[in-house]
Amino acid sequence: MSSVVNTTATSAEISAIQGSEGLLGPVLARTVVCLLSLLFVWRAWRFTVLPFLHPDQPKEFPYWIPFGLGKTHLANTGELMLARSYLGNTDDPFALTAFGMTFYVVTQAKHSAEVYRNTETLSFEAFVQGLMRINGNDEDIIKAVYTALPADKTGFPNPQGESLGVLAQRMHAHQLHPGENLAALQKQVQAWVDGHLNLADLASFPSVASTSPASIEVPLYQWCSEAFIQLGQDVYFGETLAGIDPALPAAFLAFDELIWKMLYRYPGFLSGDMAAPRARVIASLNRYFQVPPGQRRGGAAWLVNAMEDEMRAIGVEGKNLAIVVFHLYLAINTNARKTAFWMLSYLIHNPSLLAAYRAETAAAFGPSGALVDPLLIQEPARCPCVDAVWHETLRVSGWAASVRLVTADTVVGGKRLRRGGCVVVPHRLLHLDARVVGARPDCFRPERWVPSKAGGGDARAGLARSPAWRPFGGGKTMCSGRFLARYSVTVFVAALLRRFDVQLVGDPPFPRADEGRPVLGTMSIKEGDDFPVRISLRA
Ligand code: HEM
Repeated sequence: MSSVVNTTATSAEISAIQGSEGLLGPVLARTVVCLLSLLFVWRAWRFTVLPFLHPDQPKEFPYWIPFGLGKTHLANTGELMLARSYLGNTDDPFALTAFGMTFYVVTQAKHSAEVYRNTETLSFEAFVQGLMRINGNDEDIIKAVYTALPADKTGFPNPQGESLGVLAQRMHAHQLHPGENLAALQKQVQAWVDGHLNLADLASFPSVASTSPASIEVPLYQWCSEAFIQLGQDVYFGETLAGIDPALPAAFLAFDELIWKMLYRYPGFLSGDMAAPRARVIASLNRYFQVPPGQRRGGAAWLVNAMEDEMRAIGVEGKNLAIVVFHLYLAINTNARKTAFWMLSYLIHNPSLLAAYRAETAAAFGPSGALVDPLLIQEPARCPCVDAVWHETLRVSGWAASVRLVTADTVVGGKRLRRGGCVVVPHRLLHLDARVVGARPDCFRPERWVPSKAGGGDARAGLARSPAWRPFGGGKTMCSGRFLARYSVTVFVAALLRRFDVQLVGDPPFPRADEGRPVLGTMSIKEGDDFPVRISLRA
């Protein structure tokens, strides 16, 4: 009996389903046709009709998904070149939409100069405020940091009555531009390199794969990053911070490799792997500022102490203070570690270049191997190879871009950029332009920076002074750390090569840069491309 009932019910269900399928087919087809037609109309309107109606606005690279392009477009030179050539290769600013935001890409040196001159409607501050917001600063704190302060306030001089956010740029320069404050930091770097570049200390980093009495084996990218972040952290904050969280450099590194999720404002459910180490760095900085000043200040740079005083004076405390200083920690560490890695990689893969670098810098060391004259390494006339390798590493491995928020409609390069968009000046396009840097721009050729060898139409002797050469950005936000960066990287590499032999283990290929991954200056390597090296004591 029950089986008859069941059979009858099943037949009824089957015919119901068949009926609905009969209806569903045409409904689905009509919906798809309707949606596709809408998409075609939207695309034709946006990328054909609108540009025709508004020829004064930058042409936009077309896309199919209304939210815009993916993450690789803005960070990938090849794709930017493709977009530019698709739009007619005119050198005019052009537009890209990614993640719902319009980015105006400026590719000409003279247009980028217009961007740098305009501090009224192209705002760097708005970009920094965006970073403060996504990293967790409260709105009232952001407002306080960007509220004009009295010209006669105590503390760091403020003759123009600027906000602390703007004044911070002057404070960076006060610490980092040539002068006694920079010299004090350079002395700290010298002491760190001299005191820590020994086998026992180098073997203590977490990535070390194996140790023996006279050598260690390490994955170069990971190890060099750990060592360099430790250096930057110790020099700026003293050893108190390492005491609070010995694994802080590793946490920062984990965050920094995923920084693109922060830059593209990935939602929380997709960015936990970036947010967790970021939270740890901020929590450790928060604990650092809770240590009574008398117990920690001696080891910290002037800037860290001055920034703390200025921030506390306007009510920025606790986690908010830690987040502000987190941005400083980021600026100090994100690019220098990667530049040191790329420089070492190029040298290790070019033994004759490595020998020249070692020979040139030998005079900076005393007979016992102590670093006695690090400033010699900074002199292009005495160390032309170091100078050329430094410039060529920045050129080939750099992805510096200047970013400004458009706060009111603004004309750049004859095109009107609309309020709310973002201007991006991707310097790498010019750094890879044969008209600017000479033949074979995609190859690592340090000789293009040596005036006597740069002839034959290769590169101009004045390349380093060209307005197209911007590895550190430009305008009033040009990297204030560039002198310290060069000093730290070239001295670290010189001391490492002086005391150790650094050799490839096996025959790994040269690592590839992960060009599609957005960064704030120097490119990371592609996942899986780290390679082992043996670092052994030299006789
Ligand atoms: C090779 C290593 C480095 C590279 C390639 C680099 C690159 C850059 C770039 C591209 C900018 C943005 C410029 C712009 O918006 O136009 C920048 C800004 C900045 N960098 Fe660096 N940087 C390096 C190392 C450092 C170091 C070691 C420090 C600190 C000790 C530092 C501190 C800063 C600061 C504070 C800013 C913000 C500018 C300001 O507000 O004053 N940088 N850097």
